[in-house]
Parts: sequence; C-alpha cells; structure tokens
Amino acid sequence: MSWSGVAPSILAADFSRLGAQVEEVLAAGARVIHVDVMDGHFVPPITMGPLAVGAIADTVHAAGGVVDVHLMIERPERQIGAFAEAGADGITLHLEATPHVNYSLAAVREAGCRSGLALNPHSPPELVAGVVDVLDLALCMTVNPGWGGQAFLPESPAKLERLRAVLGRDTVLEVDGGIGPGTAATCAKAGASLFVAGSAVFGADDPGEAVREIAAAIDGRKAGSH
Ligand code: DX5
Ligand code: ZN
Repeated sequence: MSWSGVAPSILAADFSRLGAQVEEVLAAGARVIHVDVMDGHFVPPITMGPLAVGAIADTVHAAGGVVDVHLMIERPERQIGAFAEAGADGITLHLEATPHVNYSLAAVREAGCRSGLALNPHSPPELVAGVVDVLDLALCMTVNPGWGGQAFLPESPAKLERLRAVLGRDTVLEVDGGIGPGTAATCAKAGASLFVAGSAVFGADDPGEAVREIAAAIDGRKAGSH
C-alpha cells in the first residue's frame, strides 16, 4: 500500500529542477511525496502552496504515488478545497492551528483526501483520541515545525509508542523531522509507519540511494543486501 515507507520532502529539493528530483526519488521506490506548506504565521517561514502541488501531482500519480500535503498554516480548514483540487491525496493539518479539528478532518475526507492530524512536540499524544473516527493518519513532529535540517528530538520514540497505543494498528503513523537511516529505524521500532525525510534525501549526493538506505534501515536490512 502507498502510505508507508520513505516520504521525501520536497522542501529540501532543488526547485530549479523539481520535476527531475521527484522523478529520481520515485524511481528509487518512494511512493509518498511530502509537501511542506508554511504561511509565515503558524510557523515563521513561507514556503509553497497549491501551485507546487499541481506542478508535481501528475508525475507522482503516473508512478502510482501519492501527494502528502503537510499544512503548517493557521485555519487550515479554509484551504482544503484548493489543495484537493490541485491534486493532494492526503491533507494533514495541525492540532494547534484550528479550534475545529473534528470538522476540518471530516472536511478533508469529504474533499476526497486522506485526513491527517499533526502534533507539535509539546502536544500530548492522548489528544488524538477524540478524533480517531475521522482520522486516517497521525503525524508526530520529531522536530519543531518550520525548518528542515534540524536534529531529531530524543523524546520522540516514547511519544510514538503512546501515539500508536491510542491509534491502534491500522492508522498511518508518520514521523517528520531529523529522519535519516538511524532515527528511522528507531521510530519504526516505536510504531511509526511513514517516514518523512528532507535533507537526508535531497541533501545527499544521490537522492535515490538515500531513499534506498532509509528504506533498508526501516526494514531492518543493510542497504544493498538485496
Ligand atoms: C519541518 C517539515 C519537514 C521538513 C523535514 O517543519 O515539516 O517535513 O521538510 O526536514 P528534515 O528531514 O531535513 O528534518
Ligand atoms: Zn513536513
């Protein structure tokens, strides 16, 4: 199934050749492409919007992949339609960004997308318990949202175990921030099933090889062993 494994984050890609970078990681087996949307309010930086989703959606879908949109914006419920129309397959919004979490997740599903809820490092995992009925995916921030290239927060694995217990077995549990082969393996043991990696993939000399190495670490294999 598509919603597992390594999810390269295009935040760290070379935007002057975005299509080629996406093709490279799809060719290496990635089937989830992560798009980080920031508004300059919920987090300080401004990044990209529906136009960026539309620019890669056909390439991703042609390879059998999905576009995983991570909204780090205030009042995300106002933007669901625009991202769904642009080609998003999943839309994840932050628990801390709206007073209308249940409504917003249901609206994501009504727009035909997988619904996701992201938690900042300070938000207790038990807070997702009230919305599990409208939730397809939970995203555990393993750094503070806003920037790529930060160090993995060491308290994250314990939080992931608590989140997995609240979610049950079948909900996708995504980790985001500071993920490379070592932290991916640690998170996999703690219950994560989808692994966002930005700088570890697009900061590498060979992004395709970086995807394969992280995937191998998740599976507990050595890169290149088969
Ligand atoms: C951070 C974003 C991440 C970011 C991860 O706010 O949500 O998806 O791209 O970057 P790395 O993998 O470099 O920590
Ligand atoms: Zn993200």
